[in-house]
Amino acid sequence: MDKLAILGGQKAVEKSTLNWPEDFLKIHGEEEIGALTRVIRSGVVWGAFASEVTAFEREFAQYIGTTHAIATNSGAAALHSAMAAAGVGPATEIITSPHTFIASATSVMHHNGVPVFADIDPKTYNIDPEKIEERITKNTKAIEPVHICGLPADMDRIGKIADSHGLVVIEDACQAHGATYGGKKVGAIGDMAAFSLNGAKNMMSGEGGVFTTNSDEYAARVARVRIFGEDIRPNTPREYKSGGDGWNYRMCELNAAIARVQLARLDATNRVRIENAEYLTHKLERTAGFIPPYIPQDRTSVYHYYKIRVDPSALDVKMSGHQLRDRVVAALTAEGVKAAVWCREPIYKQPLFKTLDGYGLGCPWRCPHATRKIEYKDGDCPIAERISDETFNIQVHPPNDLELMKQYATAFEKVSANASELVEIKLPRWEKWWGGYIPVEPIS
Ligand SMILES: Cc1ncc(COP(=O)(O)O)c(C=O)c1O
Repeated sequence: MDKLAILGGQKAVEKSTLNWPEDFLKIHGEEEIGALTRVIRSGVVWGAFASEVTAFEREFAQYIGTTHAIATNSGAAALHSAMAAAGVGPATEIITSPHTFIASATSVMHHNGVPVFADIDPKTYNIDPEKIEERITKNTKAIEPVHICGLPADMDRIGKIADSHGLVVIEDACQAHGATYGGKKVGAIGDMAAFSLNGAKNMMSGEGGVFTTNSDEYAARVARVRIFGEDIRPNTPREYKSGGDGWNYRMCELNAAIARVQLARLDATNRVRIENAEYLTHKLERTAGFIPPYIPQDRTSVYHYYKIRVDPSALDVKMSGHQLRDRVVAALTAEGVKAAVWCREPIYKQPLFKTLDGYGLGCPWRCPHATRKIEYKDGDCPIAERISDETFNIQVHPPNDLELMKQYATAFEKVSANASELVEIKLPRWEKWWGGYIPVEPIS
């Protein structure tokens, strides 16, 4: 095989990778521009019952298959609203995955609940139902599975555990718009769910989020939380009377108009992601040293990211998975593959969970109502730690296509065939990139 680009050889990837969503909008942005113009011309740019927000909520609920969808101004806001509706509060514990974005946990803390982390499954990278069982205490209120990288968590087993312990299930579906489990879309499986519509997601509105549920009661609570604790009705003057605590989590008309365009296009963009991903998986299954994403038969993934694990045992190298991963990402980057390390460590390793510096005088951990001391230690979730060390992500979104994936596959084959030379590569300097890390020049 040719010499690695990082060691002076020819690059395997000639085509440039287009970034999401900026380059996507270069091709398809006219509809978004039309929607924004329509809103500006209408003169109505905000309002909980304004027409774009209302239409988006109706369309999203129909798409997911729930009776309610409530638009918010972020995924974190939708998640926090769900925690509030579930009755999360002082001394309650919510079991979630450590292999996620920080908002899965901070949304719990905003309501004085304590996040408890259960380890993940080494194949799906989603929360492991068995580990959930081990973490349940009399304080546990809810389970918050995160459908990471667009792959649904094991919702049947999670649902059974929740039923047998009387727990609420709140899906963090922020990365999984359109993914299915047992033929049902995520967001319609647990008691409640939250989606993010920030600029990086499979569908976006700039910033934004959506809460979904089939429960009238939860929907009513979230509707209240979204607008300062007030009960408001369409076509009825707002009274400005709060019946409970609340925030301003409303989505604006401009964001809703973009979200509607993106929702109409979601299945088509997800199809491209799936097609690109399936092609790469077919290739990586035949390329030593790389483990492609595992998608159980009962689920579909929408590949928010395409996560690859390195396997040193399949290569003739004397390196740990972590050492190999860093060198592989550097070598692939030099070949022209857009590869990034995302979720470099489980979130409980972030300083917040060492200092326990929550809001107020250290709530939720030092809340006077707390009945149990919860600490976070390195080694708490060994599988999540290992997966963070041994995986990296690439992006398979449109307008990137099969032609690019073919060149990517050649780059992977080249790195695999030259694996023994990876020892010579100096560790790259890393730079932050979209919540992850990419190696930067000089990388050799
Ligand atoms: C898994 C997960 N949960 C929650 C969030 C929070 O969403 P937002 O950024 O819209 O608040 C994100 C988005 O980054 C996410 O990826």
